[in-house]
This record gives sequence, C-alpha cells and structure tokens, in this order.
Amino acid sequence: MTTTKLTSTEAIGLEDRYGAHNYHPLPVVLAKGEGVYVWDVEGKKYYDFLSSYSAVNQGHCHPAIVKALTDQAKTLALTSRAFYNDKLGLFEEKITKLFGFDKILPMNTGAEAVETAIKLARKWAYEVKGTPENEAVIVVCDNNFHGRTTTIISFSNDVNARRSYGPYTEGFVRIPYNDLDALKEVLTNKNVAGFLVEPIQGEAGVFVPDEGYLAKAKALCEANNTLFIADEVQTGIARTGKMLAVNHENVQPDILILGKALSGGMYPVSAVLANDSIMHVIKPGQHGSTFGGNPIAAAVAMAALDVVLDEKLADNAEAMGQILRDELNKYIATSNICTLVRGKGLLNAILINDTEDSDTAWNICLRLRDKGLLAKPTHGNIIRFAPPLVMTKEQILDCARIITETLAEFER
Ligand SMILES: Cc1ncc(COP(=O)(O)O)c(C=O)c1O
Repeated sequence: MTTTKLTSTEAIGLEDRYGAHNYHPLPVVLAKGEGVYVWDVEGKKYYDFLSSYSAVNQGHCHPAIVKALTDQAKTLALTSRAFYNDKLGLFEEKITKLFGFDKILPMNTGAEAVETAIKLARKWAYEVKGTPENEAVIVVCDNNFHGRTTTIISFSNDVNARRSYGPYTEGFVRIPYNDLDALKEVLTNKNVAGFLVEPIQGEAGVFVPDEGYLAKAKALCEANNTLFIADEVQTGIARTGKMLAVNHENVQPDILILGKALSGGMYPVSAVLANDSIMHVIKPGQHGSTFGGNPIAAAVAMAALDVVLDEKLADNAEAMGQILRDELNKYIATSNICTLVRGKGLLNAILINDTEDSDTAWNICLRLRDKGLLAKPTHGNIIRFAPPLVMTKEQILDCARIITETLAEFER
C-alpha cells in the first residue's frame, strides 16, 4: 500500500506530470471529507460548495453509505449480468417504486445512462412508433450538457467539447432552451423519437426555465407521440428541493435519467427508468455493461436513496437554498461585481459582472478557497453554488457571509 504523504505542491506536480491535462482544477488538494466539509493535505478545512458537480448530495462519507459499500465489498463485488445477484432486484424494486416506473436499466456513469436513453428512444421509435429505419430524430437544446461520449458531444454546441472529435453522430436537432414555440415547430417532423432535456441546465450556468415550461413541453411531446426524456443526472435526487426537478411541475417523464447522487458520490451508479411499453424494446444481448447493476452499486444506491428520504434532504435543500438566495440577494442589491443569483433548492449560481473570458470569477473562487469555501466558475463569469444537501442553517449563513465578504473585496 502506498503511504507517501504528499504536500499540495507535490500532488499537483504529479498530476501535472503524469495525468492528461483534460481538467483545469482549482489549486487545492483534498485528502478527507465529512458531511459538508473537505480538508486539504495540509489540514485546512473548507465548505464544499460544488459537491462533485452535485454527486455528493448526502454529504461526504455518509456513514450509512460507507457501511453499505464496505459491507458489500467484503461480500460480493461483481458478478456481471451473466448471472443474477442478490442485491440488484432489491435495488430495482426500490427505485422503480420510488419514481413510479415499471423498469430500470442500470448503468454506471451519467453519460452511459444518456447513451442508453438515446438508444432506447431510437429503438422505441422504430419498433413501436413505426419510424422508418435510420430516420429517428432526437431533439435537444442549445447549451445542453449530457456528458462526453462521441454521440453526446455530437449534439453539443460547446466548441471546446466538440472540436476535432468528428465525424459526429447524426440524428439530432437542436432548438433553443425554454422555447415552446421552437419545440412545437420541430415536433411537426413525425420522425422525432424523443425530446432530451435538462429540467435546469446545470453546466450551462444553472439556467432555470420559465415556470410551466416542463409541463407544457411534456404535453407537446405527448400530443405528438414523442418521448419526453428528462436528464436529471445533475438536478435529481433532491438537489433542487424536490426528489426530481420535474416534480416542481408534476411531470412524469417517459424516460428518466439519473446518476451522480444516486450513489451519494460513493460509486459510479446511473439509471434509466421507463415503463414496460418503452423498456420492452431492449432484449437480451442488445445493450449492457459489465459493471452496470453490480452488487456494490445496488447496495450503495439503496443506502444513498434511504439517506435522502430519511433525512428529508429535499425539504432541507429547499429551505437552505431559499436562505442562501435571500442572503445573496441582500448583498447583490448594492453590488457592482455580482448582478444576479439564480437557482432552485441548493443548485444555484451567481453572475459575475465581467466578460466571459475574464478571470474575475476564477480569482473570486481562489479568494473563496483562501477563506474556506470551494466553488468553481462555469463558462467564465458564472460561479455555481451546489453544497451537499445536509447543510444546516448556521452553516449556510456562515457560507453566505464568506461569499459576500469575498465579493466585497472585488467591488470596483
Ligand atoms: C445533466 C448531466 N447529464 C449527464 C452528465 C454526465 O455525467 P457523467 O460525468 O457521470 O458521465 C452530467 C455531468 O455533469 C450532467 O450534468
């Protein structure tokens, strides 16, 4: 076992020397986490205000999830789906009943689940809807973020995510987000199999659509025999103040995609949920994954869901998010550097009053780090605030204080 204790500088140096440079991390090297806190290798304590892009909703190293992981790891880790295991069925029963679907197809990462949903929607179009072979279209939104596979980046409009990765996968049409007229128009094409949408666009900068958008979009899909596919990888599992972000508008998607916090960030677990009339199109041998539905994943996800329900994390996210936005809005009323806070529950972002290519937001995040709070800019001048949902009122007020004191240093 490697027991070498590294300093921050050494750890950063190693990653820089031996790791691909596909990320640009904030310079902080974390060694420990508990609840809403993380500690760096020098022992400095921080509030985690990113939660691994909303994966650690239940807080770092939640004892119940750690126990599920370690107990199962000591018993049976992987069987592949060549055989049955004694945990998967229990997880499948729990998650389908919880979210109101007939079936789940388990995968590992968010991107794999999105890929699965796309394949499922296409197959449904050909085999149930009667779309001519190879003509199925999936409608997506501008500024979407659904992951990093070749197919998914094919329908992204983020130049960085796409450039030099072609040839791209065909069969996608992009429309503006939060635009029902555009959706209505595109649905006149009878070959549209599904509308893939984030209920709140997280990576794009926490864009919350108008109230009613999701419900009306679902109704339009229904009227046109098109599947409404909700990617709740980032917004799901209580993050926005409800178990799912679509619950704010009482929408039941035809296909639901979950990931990240489905395991409390403990293990890669993702899921695609749908009813039998859709899911039945996938037969043995037609889709799968060696690790998807493994016993550790199943045990961890069951524990992670229990924590969310037992600790009423959706209600807490709603209440703490309101406090955070209220506190920040009080500050923003007289601020030049910060113009807006937006979000739902504990998925929020502030807008920094500078150009997208400026380094102001990055510098603010460096100062937040110095003051004990870790957050990261998205798209240059937006800073996302997504702490674990186990935050207390005292802690969220302390965080609001750190944020506003830091912003004050940048006022001009
Ligand atoms: C909405 C959404 N979908 C899919 C993904 C991809 O998930 P993963 O990174 O686990 O592949 C993300 C990741 O941020 C996401 O926010």
